[in-house]
Amino acid sequence: MSEFRRWWKEAVVYQIYPKSFYDSNDDGVGDLPGVIEKLDVLHHLGVDVLWLNPIYASPEVDNGYDISDYFALNPKFGTMDDLERLLAECHRRGMRVIMDLVVNHTSDQHRWFVESRRARTNPYRDYYIWRDGRDGREPNNWAGHFSQSAWTFDATTGQYYLHIFSPQQPDLNWENPAVRSEVQQIVRWWLEKGIDGFRLDAINLISKAPGLPDNPGEGRYVFSLQHFCNGPRFHEYMQELNRAVFAHYDIMTVGECAALTIEDAIAVSAPARGELNMAFLFEHTDYYNTVGRDEQKLKEILTRWQLGLHGRGWVGLAFSNHDQPRIVSCFGDETRYREESAKLFATLLLTLEGTPFIYQGEEIGMTNAYYDAIEAYNDVGTVNLYREKVAAGVDPQAAFREVRAKSRDRGRSPYQWSAEANAGFTRGRPWIGVNPNYVEINLAASLADPNSVFHYYRRMIALRKATPALIYGEFLPVEAPEELFVYRRSLGGRTYEVALNLSERTVRHASAGAALIGNYPEETHKDRLRPYEARVYQIE
Ligand code: GLC
Repeated sequence: MSEFRRWWKEAVVYQIYPKSFYDSNDDGVGDLPGVIEKLDVLHHLGVDVLWLNPIYASPEVDNGYDISDYFALNPKFGTMDDLERLLAECHRRGMRVIMDLVVNHTSDQHRWFVESRRARTNPYRDYYIWRDGRDGREPNNWAGHFSQSAWTFDATTGQYYLHIFSPQQPDLNWENPAVRSEVQQIVRWWLEKGIDGFRLDAINLISKAPGLPDNPGEGRYVFSLQHFCNGPRFHEYMQELNRAVFAHYDIMTVGECAALTIEDAIAVSAPARGELNMAFLFEHTDYYNTVGRDEQKLKEILTRWQLGLHGRGWVGLAFSNHDQPRIVSCFGDETRYREESAKLFATLLLTLEGTPFIYQGEEIGMTNAYYDAIEAYNDVGTVNLYREKVAAGVDPQAAFREVRAKSRDRGRSPYQWSAEANAGFTRGRPWIGVNPNYVEINLAASLADPNSVFHYYRRMIALRKATPALIYGEFLPVEAPEELFVYRRSLGGRTYEVALNLSERTVRHASAGAALIGNYPEETHKDRLRPYEARVYQIE
């Protein structure tokens, strides 16, 4: 491979949320043997790398993002033998597997925390962040992601511990070299087992501002990333981990970094810095989640990142994941143009610079799931927020409507395999409700229809792999009416044009070359793009 070519840049990643993927033993929960059973269809789709959300031992307060033992698996998912079999079966097919690495925090059931909370003098005390209260209240005004305060008082020792996420996810103290050395051991142990890399959870939260100063703002609890995101030692910690472990393996590392800017992405991914291979781009999903749907903003954000990062760093690209809504539900059309819009986003994802991540179900155009009662929800953020609102006097129905609209469970409903009961996901009772639209939207139907979303993904993946310009080429924005997103990718004298209609209107657009692929069966109109039409042309 030449200097700038890397397998992890050319790979297409498929994210598996194991709990909702495929249940092989009828307990209602997806598992590793279930993943193994379905490998052939993923291989047929053309994906190269599987990213598994956490499968480690965990009390599952946050679906495995609260780990109680990094060297053991949650028995619901299977045994270590199952995992080894999965690795072997993937490697045999030329596929790789990356795991989630959750080391900003552990579960409160982890042995380190159980020890830590015993006594102020316990050898593990300093593995976590303990502080005295201030005037009978929390040490500072930080609000948590899944709770009002980021601090919880522990009566045994009369101090508060920090948790940016739920109270059951205490933050590790990375300032302590013993913690960093434990993390190195965990990472090395898994790489020795033969996994091919990591997705590093919430990784730019590991270094906190010295002195833990208050967030700016009024009120008892103020949410802001200011003092716990991209802290002063973040890059030093990444470089240390890279030198000690990552650099010794041919692996892929991708960071989940909150509030990432282009400059941050370069700082964490530029090869010369020796940190991670890439971080996820989230500006577009953050914008959607805070402000709402805005196609102009989507184009502006993607264009700015493509231009800003080329030759300087690398990103992971995703439109959906286990924390986000489904792409057809937020930027496409769930009803009339569901298939067209799903295919349009396949075209966009697979023609930008950056490693594409497909979230399970995206390749069949799955939509957001909603449930009728709070009891049907599992997301710790949803449930905690609901409880806090009701406790504060908000009408339960109003509180429910509010939390339901943003629940992360929107994208966590079981994979829709077929039109059989429970979408063919389980013969037991699914741990979370299936989306009733599985009767029409399912893999079996998608496989049977040569024009389906699935087969379109498969063709787009193949096109990307056969076309180095789509992976490494320069990105050139093309002037176009506001409904459209048009750009070129160019490398070594070969140029491709991507034309996407992000609207439900038919819009004039003169085709610029020979169409290689499109999401309508035929290119009947060379001078216009129909609703959500997407085309890739080769420019002569
Ligand atoms: C990341 C994960 C999310 C989890 C959180 C805490 O954002 O993607 O699912 O709740 O970190 O670990």
